[in-house]
Amino acid sequence: MGYALEDFQSKPVIGIVNTWSDLANCHSHFRARAEEVKRGVWQAGGFPVELPAMSITETYMKPSPMMFRNFLAMETEELLRSQPIDGAVLMGGCDKTTPGLLMGAISMNLPAIYLPAGPMLRGNWNGQVLGSGTDVWKFWAEKCAGNITDCQWSEMEDGIARSPGHCMTMGTASTMTAIAETLGLTLPGASSIPAVDANHSRMATKCGRRIVAMVWEDLKPRDILSEAAFENAITADMAIGGSTNAIIHLVALAGRAGIKLDLKRFDDISARTPMIANLRPSGEFLMEDFYYAGGLRALLNQISDLLHLDCLTVNGETIGEAIQSACVSNPQVIKSLNNPVSISGGTAILYGNLAPNGAVIKPTAAEKRLLKHRGRAVVFHDYNDLVARIDDDSLKVDAESVLVLQNAGPLGGPGMPEWGMLPIPRKLLKQGVRDMVRISDARMSGTAYGACVLHVSPESFVGGPLALVRDDDWVELDVPARKLDLIVDDTELARRHAAWQPQPRKYKRGFGALYSAHVLQADQGCDFDFLLAGAETPEPEIH
Ligand code: FES
Repeated sequence: MGYALEDFQSKPVIGIVNTWSDLANCHSHFRARAEEVKRGVWQAGGFPVELPAMSITETYMKPSPMMFRNFLAMETEELLRSQPIDGAVLMGGCDKTTPGLLMGAISMNLPAIYLPAGPMLRGNWNGQVLGSGTDVWKFWAEKCAGNITDCQWSEMEDGIARSPGHCMTMGTASTMTAIAETLGLTLPGASSIPAVDANHSRMATKCGRRIVAMVWEDLKPRDILSEAAFENAITADMAIGGSTNAIIHLVALAGRAGIKLDLKRFDDISARTPMIANLRPSGEFLMEDFYYAGGLRALLNQISDLLHLDCLTVNGETIGEAIQSACVSNPQVIKSLNNPVSISGGTAILYGNLAPNGAVIKPTAAEKRLLKHRGRAVVFHDYNDLVARIDDDSLKVDAESVLVLQNAGPLGGPGMPEWGMLPIPRKLLKQGVRDMVRISDARMSGTAYGACVLHVSPESFVGGPLALVRDDDWVELDVPARKLDLIVDDTELARRHAAWQPQPRKYKRGFGALYSAHVLQADQGCDFDFLLAGAETPEPEIH
């Protein structure tokens, strides 16, 4: 390769794990950023090597990108273990790449620093600001209602994603990179910088310099991750109105660090944490505005009384020191604890006979009138059944109905596809209905909105109570009381359960078979059972 001994001898070897690919639209700037990381590594006296890893792209992967998060985690861990690497810079940003890379790095436990892709610039259509995902759902409903033409739709497509970077709403990507920063795994301020801002390049080079120092300091992920750091991350998630997907990923990340997070902890922290980021889908603005308003450091500074400020970060300083000097420059975008967007956090956990192990809803992104609702079920057996019948004019449905989707969970989907924002039936769209109670064991895009109850556990594919719902059953949702119940008596439910027949597993070989045999349920983070923290994997012998 043309290196001389002096290039690498006695220097830390830094693996730059790069999730670039021609299909990873959110990471299209990563080839340039990898070079900028290398610049920093060389400057600090390290030896950089770039390691390509699976680029999980939210828009293209089938059957669902979530199915491959654990694949990327395994790949990251084994890339770092099987090769002569002393420290790593992890480059990701599109939804599943952040948890995938971090889960692998936590299990490997070499010094590692996360480099977030940064959000796209704001979208624009005819002077209207467009947010990725959120405005797609919104205008698609208008298109289905006949209020938007094909030509206008096409113009919006050209304007909504106009630069490199991940989705610029507070979707899963922005949520997970903010969580990575709050956990202490990025440089302070890194997650808010837009992908194409010159400061993003400077941050990449700084990651390169810092990881070399981290190797000499032997500062590893599990030195940084503590129960308090995860509480900080959940608090930040609630204050930003983060994606519901974050719950699954945080449980999985904590599991890799040997920390158990139950869903109740999310609800307790949500109850005491006001949501202060005024960002779509729960608010008005976009990530570019958030950066100009001070970014995540300023937001964390606003909620510093709710944080454990002595937690360590990859910078070698505490999170308290990292956010100390940050201030809010636009109080419309980052509000205060006294004047929040919502007095409690962005996510609530529900329990009841329909979700014995929990379900999730984002009340801040739903029509308030639906947060306490009783309606009759309209049941779709799976996604194909939904697509075939949802717009059928003869479907017995009205605005008070509760739409139920079965077989869309970790095994049923498979991979918990983001089908949880079930479409509103076209005949109701035409009547002006824009939100309904919807229940599934699927996930929902972090950019989506509506009274959607998600992650119902256990899932219907394994015989959870969601499998027992029938058309016209009464369903009761009570978010203030955190309840989700099927109003059917126990004898009838027992009869239905006895008659329930499991479907065959979807994969007979390959990764799909491994996934089907080992994936855990949503409330347990959907990690593989054999990847949770346990005995250390020994360093391979070198022969
Ligand atoms: Fe990558 Fe939305 S498509 S973050």
